[in-house]
Amino acid sequence: MPAIVIVGAQWGDEGKGKATDHLGSQVDYVVKFNGGNNAGHTVVIGDEKYALHLLPSGILTPGCTPVIGNGVVVDIDVLFHEIDGLEARGIDTSKLKLSANAHVIADYNRQVDKVAERFLGSRKIGTTGRGIGPTYADKMNRIGIRVQDLFDEKILTQKVEGALELKGQILTKIYNRRAPSVEQTVAELRSHAERLAPYVCDTTLLLGQALDRGEVVLLEAGQATLLDVDHGTYPFVTSSSATSGGACTGSGIPPTRIDQVIAIVKAYTTRVGEGPFPTELNDDKGEFLRKQGFEFGTTTGRPRRCGWYDTVIARYAARVNGVTDFVLTKLDVLTGLDVVPVCVAYDVDGVRHEEMPVNQTDFHHAVPVYENLPGWSEDLTGCRAFEDLPKAAQDYVEYVEARSGGRISVIGVGPEREQAIVRHPLR
Ligand code: IMP
Repeated sequence: MPAIVIVGAQWGDEGKGKATDHLGSQVDYVVKFNGGNNAGHTVVIGDEKYALHLLPSGILTPGCTPVIGNGVVVDIDVLFHEIDGLEARGIDTSKLKLSANAHVIADYNRQVDKVAERFLGSRKIGTTGRGIGPTYADKMNRIGIRVQDLFDEKILTQKVEGALELKGQILTKIYNRRAPSVEQTVAELRSHAERLAPYVCDTTLLLGQALDRGEVVLLEAGQATLLDVDHGTYPFVTSSSATSGGACTGSGIPPTRIDQVIAIVKAYTTRVGEGPFPTELNDDKGEFLRKQGFEFGTTTGRPRRCGWYDTVIARYAARVNGVTDFVLTKLDVLTGLDVVPVCVAYDVDGVRHEEMPVNQTDFHHAVPVYENLPGWSEDLTGCRAFEDLPKAAQDYVEYVEARSGGRISVIGVGPEREQAIVRHPLR
């Protein structure tokens, strides 16, 4: 029985939560394998809207076990805040499992994240300020604090001392801020230990055994391909592996057990934070997409940058993730445009690029080459079959599909669970 990976094909916010939720009832485990509470999934079920940041969206599916894998960085305050919020709305969260090897976001790392961005000035990344990057840096630097450390005060104290030797100096000497004390940090982290204990386990073993029993495991990426620390638009990326390769390291599930990679791609493109974005629109069309698509960040509330669909990016995502199916979301948002441009290549200083330029400077200078497709005015939100779509919308889907490096299996036409056109069932 397989493990399935879901990734974002662009710069995030493609609607992964909805796709995961769509598969929900056929899936036994939903695993978050990277990132932390920098993510934001909005899932709409009936009249209820749920904004999740840290918890996997499988938490909303009865019978499904949600898992936070070893590749995640965990803000424990946020974790309990989300658990309490869902419990208050009648959602049972008791099945949640948390990897003992996941790293914990300590307060000094939230501080470093925020103050470092301020110091970077015009070179800032536009992070979410949640301490994600500094916590991953500590992990690689081997001074990180893991979930399992919280249960042993002596070990925790040693580790916090070690981390603060560096982080304390950075905060005080470089950034001129007050660093928290070892005692303060240990007390804060330890205050959660008792409540956390029932959720903590060896999630790698749990998931390996589930696959052996023939159960279905869904690995859900936070962020997206172009925010991946290796394959994204570095340095304007997040600090984790958001592509399908990260699903293996972030969960302990080997590549040989993964047989489906679903990439979520929006019918246009958005980006939050800084960094290059060739098809960005700084005009009334961009405003149109932002308004129609309600493009404001789930986590930070920031207005998202908006632009046209970019097939170069989609092909790249198909290649680096090994995409087997695309889910095209928010097609309904394009209703009302006379013409819908699609980027088919880039012009970089007179040279045509069909593939992502490997050189960062080239990507910054990439000018999109557009094909203008006819728009449509019909409301798509009631369409449930491909044939229900107006001809121009069908043509749009087929045009982008032919250039995106994979088949479009599902088309989203609205925020509700059932507002989807299934061309090829995902399972
Ligand atoms: P960080 O992940 O907070 O370090 O932020 C690094 C970059 O990733 C910034 O440009 C963020 O806006 C972006 N980012 C992080 N998480 C998300 C997400 O869930 N959706 C979209 N962008 C994100």
